[in-house]
Amino acid sequence: MIKTATFIKSAADKSGWIDDGVDEICFVGRSNVGKSTFINAITNQNKLAKTSSAPGKTRLLNFFNINNGQFRIVDAPGYGYAKVNLAQKMAFGEMMDDYLTNRNNLVGVCMLVDMRHDPTADDLQMYNFLKEVDLKVLMIGTKLDKLKKNDIQKNEKSIKKILNFDENDTFLKVSNTNKTNINLVYNVLVELLDG
Ligand code: GTP
Ligand code: MG
Repeated sequence: MIKTATFIKSAADKSGWIDDGVDEICFVGRSNVGKSTFINAITNQNKLAKTSSAPGKTRLLNFFNINNGQFRIVDAPGYGYAKVNLAQKMAFGEMMDDYLTNRNNLVGVCMLVDMRHDPTADDLQMYNFLKEVDLKVLMIGTKLDKLKKNDIQKNEKSIKKILNFDENDTFLKVSNTNKTNINLVYNVLVELLDG
């Protein structure tokens, strides 16, 4: 389990990346999908990663030390947020592209999608990119608490179909609010690290 989690630093570009051999798992997804809230849920902390009901809260790559050097979690800004100008959008794209393509410490990506909705074009682009560069993906469907029971299976099916989901990747449905399935996350993260 995750026993300790501490914030290390934020980085805007590769000059801020940490120079050591510790494995990293990066968390990506649309703005407001619940990446930062999810990091708080799995680390059992309230304010480790900054969250907000307004999209666009996370602006930089944020590095967290898990279990005193076992691995790092990297919280990333969300994509698909309309209220950023083109320059910001390009800077964001470059930062993420550089990190996801060139970061040697990166062993896998945790991609979050909102269980209520079909994936967007941005989601599809991200997932295709991750598959292209051959990164292992753990897909997390968030906001399960907002779904009617009848929609859970239906929406999962639809999300997987639209993304052309690779059945070798794990898909886990969670609620950060009710903590549903949060207890399952550590083991699948370790599978990413080991696999
Ligand atoms: P950016 O930093 O903008 O990319 O967003 P983010 O993906 O980090 O989202 P964040 O964790 O800040 O959460 C956005 C909003 O969604 C907050 O109001 C959270 O409380 C809410 N939220 C996150 N997870 C859940 C969930 O599982 N269920 C419900 N009902 N709300 C959630
Ligand atoms: Mg965030």
